Amino acid sequence: MKVISTEYSQILAARLAKASGFDLVDVRFSRFPDGELYLKTGQTGDEVLVVGSVADSDALVQLILLMDACRGAEITLILPYLGYARQDKQFSPGEPLSARAIAGILSGGISRAIVVNVHDPGVLRFFGIPVQSLSLAPEIGRYLKDAGFREPLILAPDDGAALFAAEVAAVNGWDSDHLEKTRISSEEVSMSPRKLCAESRDVVIVDDIISTGGTLATAARLLYEQGARNVYAACVHGVFAGGAYSHLIASGVREVYCSDTLERGCSVYSAAGVIADGISRC
Ligand code: R5P
Repeated sequence: MKVISTEYSQILAARLAKASGFDLVDVRFSRFPDGELYLKTGQTGDEVLVVGSVADSDALVQLILLMDACRGAEITLILPYLGYARQDKQFSPGEPLSARAIAGILSGGISRAIVVNVHDPGVLRFFGIPVQSLSLAPEIGRYLKDAGFREPLILAPDDGAALFAAEVAAVNGWDSDHLEKTRISSEEVSMSPRKLCAESRDVVIVDDIISTGGTLATAARLLYEQGARNVYAACVHGVFAGGAYSHLIASGVREVYCSDTLERGCSVYSAAGVIADGISRC
């Protein structure tokens, strides 16, 4: 078995190869003069783990090209971040069901896939092949253990992420809760923890994705108003669209942590170990 990756997941792929004891395949990436993507791989062998986050449209095309270059080998596709997964319904007539479209393209010619904290596991049915769904919640819990928090409270920004927050907190026996949003007027909302008080506590808001950062910035502001001592943010997939990282720090979030499913400067925990365990169970 060998590990090969797109440019977008090269650090995670190298960590995965090390964690699982497999060789990493060398790949060179470039573009044709007209801007089209090109790549060339070294020897892949009979079985290969193809690693590629669908970070954006170029990442998707690069992944499709890489899978084609590996044709003939048995491919296990590792999707650390499955972009396009949030358009998981036709919300109004005329829209694509993007998650279905992307899953259909990516599942051709492969035997199985692995995803990490996909936004809604319901989209996995679109792949039509076995897909193993992994969670980084325990990994995040282990990382936060040594951060030196005082009276830590792990908080989900909505009830959809409440189980995720509970799994992060459980690693260290900490409290967890989720925020409840109350609309005060058409322009004003209030948010507060459903059961527990944030006053004088170090609060870590955890979520699967930070995209624009709007959800967490609003939550951080309201938690400070309620007397939180410090607010931190931890997620799996650090998308950070439109300057989200700066927006969070400017909103008073002390530190922002994410994993290497998207390779960022604040990727402080890795999905490699969880994926290596998942592969060993396949
Ligand atoms: C929503 O259900 C997700 O779990 C995230 O809370 C959301 O995608 C975050 O988006 P943003 O950072 O743009 O507020």
